[in-house]
Amino acid sequence: MSIEFEIRPNPQPVSDLERAALLTDPGFGRVFSDHMVTVRYAEGKGWYDPRVEPRAPIAIDPASAVLHYAQEIFEGLKAYHAHDGSVTMFRPDANAARFRRSAERMAMAPLPEDLFLASLDELVRIDRQWIPTDEGGSLYLRPFMFASEVFLGVKPSSDYLYVVIASAVGSYFKGGVKPVALWVSQDYTRSAPGGTGAAKCGGNYAASLSAQAEAAERGCDQVVFLDAVERRYVEELGGMNVFFVYDDGTMVTPALTGTILPGITRDSILTLARDRGMTVVERPYSFDEWRTDAESGKLREAFACGTAAVITPIGRVAFPDGEFTMTGTEVTERLRRELVDIQRGRAADPYGWVH
Ligand code: COI
Repeated sequence: MSIEFEIRPNPQPVSDLERAALLTDPGFGRVFSDHMVTVRYAEGKGWYDPRVEPRAPIAIDPASAVLHYAQEIFEGLKAYHAHDGSVTMFRPDANAARFRRSAERMAMAPLPEDLFLASLDELVRIDRQWIPTDEGGSLYLRPFMFASEVFLGVKPSSDYLYVVIASAVGSYFKGGVKPVALWVSQDYTRSAPGGTGAAKCGGNYAASLSAQAEAAERGCDQVVFLDAVERRYVEELGGMNVFFVYDDGTMVTPALTGTILPGITRDSILTLARDRGMTVVERPYSFDEWRTDAESGKLREAFACGTAAVITPIGRVAFPDGEFTMTGTEVTERLRRELVDIQRGRAADPYGWVH
């Protein structure tokens, strides 16, 4: 299917000088490009009016369903300047598939995957000058979709607006890639069986914020969520998956049980590590096991991973009765380098991940 976007170039793009200044140290999620994509959906009509237009506020009716019942989903992926001068994205087809699954879970109209992919290509093409050229920089693409029907009854919306915006980013964590500190939440969980944990919906992140604020009060960068049933097993962090690296070279990551987000970085690491002969086990992993093995020295490394965080080592882990630390970063750094080298076109891509 060929999809024709109406292109409306921004008549007042940011000047070259100002853009260069903004790209110097963009941080995460505050510097935006000149354009956005919008596509509309109406029941009975399907998807219509695909456009690339100047980035601008969106006017929505105060009775739009999303503002009341949070029917909203999103994705995150990055565009890079590759080593050979081309512009690439990493596994956008995996984001397209997850976006569709999230839509299904939230009873939303699934966006055709080819429309999702075409929307990314259009935005990156028109805003490619917003891709930072430095090693740590990329253009973070944020596709999202929300219920726009003007109706206060609780039901799946009949109308949706799909939007893609782009943000020039550096490291997700302030201070770049250095070990992060975690707080293990006791009072809050992220998702219960049968809930929306495997969908990338805004509500999951809204529900994580009190716990994330608690982590920040304790001087930590991210929260660790335990399972909602036994409050025993590690599930994921506020916005990223987690891996544990043992001194015998094996790795463990929590199994996808339906309450954990199936991260694309998580999946890529599983493939990379297994191809390099490492044993990686997906299974329930308790906080007690983590603590015991870190304290005995059997577990020297753990890392957080996600599109935004890439692969970031975990240093300190705090909980009400104390804390422990992990000091190793060797395997974490090696995996990060191997993944980033594929993403940036410096290493061969036998998996067909680079678009
Ligand atoms: C991502 O890693 O892309 C996410 O969506 C996580 C978000 C907390 C930035």
